[in-house]
Amino acid sequence: MNDQLLEEFKSNLKENEFSYKATHRAPSNIALVKYWGKYDPQIPANPSISFTLSKAFTDTTVFFEPSKSPEINLKFEGEAKPSFIPKIQSFVDRIGVYCPYLKGYSLNIETSNSFPHSSGIASSASGMAALAMAICNLEAKLSGSEVNLKKASFLARLGSGSAARSIEGPLMSWGFHKDITESSDLFATPFLEAHPIFNTYQDAILLVHKGVKSVSSTVGHNLMNNHPFAKRRFAQANDHLAKLLTVLRGGELDQFIEIVELEALSLHAMMLSSTPSYILMQPGTLSIIQRIRTFRAETNIPVCFTLDAGANVHVLYPVENKKRVIDLIDNELAAFCEDRQYLLDECGFGAK
Ligand code: PMV
Repeated sequence: MNDQLLEEFKSNLKENEFSYKATHRAPSNIALVKYWGKYDPQIPANPSISFTLSKAFTDTTVFFEPSKSPEINLKFEGEAKPSFIPKIQSFVDRIGVYCPYLKGYSLNIETSNSFPHSSGIASSASGMAALAMAICNLEAKLSGSEVNLKKASFLARLGSGSAARSIEGPLMSWGFHKDITESSDLFATPFLEAHPIFNTYQDAILLVHKGVKSVSSTVGHNLMNNHPFAKRRFAQANDHLAKLLTVLRGGELDQFIEIVELEALSLHAMMLSSTPSYILMQPGTLSIIQRIRTFRAETNIPVCFTLDAGANVHVLYPVENKKRVIDLIDNELAAFCEDRQYLLDECGFGAK
């Protein structure tokens, strides 16, 4: 037996013989080119690219306990949350083939978010990314290697598609695109060629509607299956990504704004034209959009908006415009937010 095989043999022996604790923080992300529509197993219908955030995050500790009858227990913000377990269980079952060592462990999970519960900010991306990191940390321990970030992204994707993009930052692309070397439908990769202005880009998340949205992302993705405009939309997203890559390299903010806003509205246009149709924007969403456009025209400050699958508005702007944009939010936009609430976030570097 050569040395490497002997080492592998020894590490297999260690498998499941000890308890292990892994703690990770993973942020949320906001897509610039949107993923909307998918095929089994979590293969995106079109490629996407996002800013990784830093202040909206999930902290997760997993206690891996060797067990002959493995189970999952979960505490959310200090309290037992049995209702969260089925989703985690199906995730663990789904990734079992890629992480066979998990079979011998019970998972005791303690998790919390930095953003208020029911704020309308989805925690699935940050939550699944943090859990995937914890599992990859155990794998690294068992195999005596470094945490494999590509695998973490791969696993996170199987929990929630957009979670694949929360592992690294500040810009992550996911899904095959002809202009991105090493792009893959299976995991996200950092886009490292961006102009420095995007390393510190700001995102103010305006909480127009807190609480659970009326139609889930899962239902929304499925409605793309028989959508009359699906084919054209997937082609448009590919085209937008190609153009955005050039803009990200060069730092042309006018074109950045044009593409990003069009993407947000195209995403919602898919919802408006699904069968059945539905509307996740609220009157406040549209009022904010109009005011951002007016402010930009009047001041030339390169501030723009994007939306995820909900009513909240993400206000994107370069860090040097922070003061003017916060004034705009306080003076005009916060009036459209529930309890005048908003979160000031910015680009970050992914899971820790
Ligand atoms: O990851 P999911 O299944 O929650 O879908 C996310 C979809 C959007 O947030 C609307 C777009 C995106 O690319 O993040």
